[in-house]
Amino acid sequence: MMPTAHVSAMPQQVCAYLDIRPGETYVDMTVGHSAGHSRLILEASTPDGRLIGIDRDAEALESAKKALACFAGRFELYHSRYSELPQVLAEARVERVAGVLLDAGVSREQMLDPKRSFSFTSTEGLDMRMDRIQSLSAWHVANEYSLKELTRVLRRTGRGREARKVAAGIVTAREGSGGIHTTAQLAEIIAATVARGYGRYRTRRTHPATPWLMAIRAEVNDEEAELQSGLRRAAEALIPRQGRLVCLSWAGHEHGLVRRTLRELSSPCTCPPALPCVCGKKPLIRVLTPKGVWPEAAEVAHNPAVRSCRLWAARAL
Ligand SMILES: C[S@@+](CC[C@H](N)C(=O)[O-])C[C@H]1O[C@@H](n2cnc3c(N)ncnc32)[C@H](O)[C@@H]1O
Repeated sequence: MMPTAHVSAMPQQVCAYLDIRPGETYVDMTVGHSAGHSRLILEASTPDGRLIGIDRDAEALESAKKALACFAGRFELYHSRYSELPQVLAEARVERVAGVLLDAGVSREQMLDPKRSFSFTSTEGLDMRMDRIQSLSAWHVANEYSLKELTRVLRRTGRGREARKVAAGIVTAREGSGGIHTTAQLAEIIAATVARGYGRYRTRRTHPATPWLMAIRAEVNDEEAELQSGLRRAAEALIPRQGRLVCLSWAGHEHGLVRRTLRELSSPCTCPPALPCVCGKKPLIRVLTPKGVWPEAAEVAHNPAVRSCRLWAARAL
C-alpha cells in the first residue's frame, strides 16, 4: 500500500491569514517532522521569501531539513522553544517578521512513534518529552510525583473532583507493582479508575484516559506556559500594522488558552474602563477571528484528525 502523504491542518486558511508574500520573512515556530506548513510558506513566498523554523524536537528538525531541501538557502532551522523566539531572531539577525505560525501540540510522527510513547497504545516506554534533552519525562510524573502534585497536574483536565481519584489510582497502582513503565499501562490504570463502564471505551471515539494523559503530557512539556509565552513573543516580533499571527490549537483547554491570551494581547489595559489609563499597557494585535475558525467539512472528511483543530489569527497594530 502506498503511504499516505502527510497533510498539514487547514493549509489554505493558514496561508490566507498569514497573507504570505515574496521578499518577506516568516517564522514557523512548530516545524514538525514533515514541515508541511513550512513548505507551504516557502512555496507561497517564492522566489525570495525567508523562513525561520523552530522546533524543540531535534529529530523533527533532522527530518524537516530533508523535507525542505529543495528550498535550500531560503530557510534556517533552530532547535529551540517558541518562548525563546527573541533569542532565535537575534541569532538570525532579524528584527521583525511578516508572519508567525504556531501549530501547537504534538505531530503525527511523534504520536505514531511508539518509543516517544505519546499514544495510549504505546508499550515501549513512558516518555512524552518533545525535547529528549530535558530530564523530566512522563515516567517521573507517574512514578515520582506525590499525590498532591499529581492531583494538581490532573486538574488541568477541568475535572477537579475526578482528578484526585485518578491521582490516587495512579499512586495505588505504582505502589502495588514495580512502578508504571509504559503509556499503555498508565492508560489502563486511569481507564480502570475513571470509567464506570470500563470496557465500553473501545466503541467510543476517544479512550477514557485521553484527557488525563494530555494533562500529564502538558506537565512534561510545560505546554501552557510555553503557549502563552510563545503567542506573546510572536505578537511582539511582528512588523507593526502588517505582520500576521496564526495559531492552530487542538484541544479544548488549548482553544480557551489561545482565545484568552490573544484577547489579553489585544486589550491588555487593566485600568477601570471609566478612568484614564495609568497602567500604560498597549495592545499589540487586533484579533481577526474572535471565535476561532473550524476546518471545513471536506477537510475533516479527508483528514479526520483535523476535526478538533481550530485556527486563530491576528494582525499587528
Ligand atoms: C502539530 S506539530 C506541527 C506540524 C507542522 N505544522 C506540519 O505541518 O507538519 C507540532 C510541533 O511543534 C513542536 N513543539 C511543540 N511545542 C513546542 C515548543 N514549545 N517550542 C517549539 N516547538 C514545539 C513539536 O515538537 C512538534 O514537532
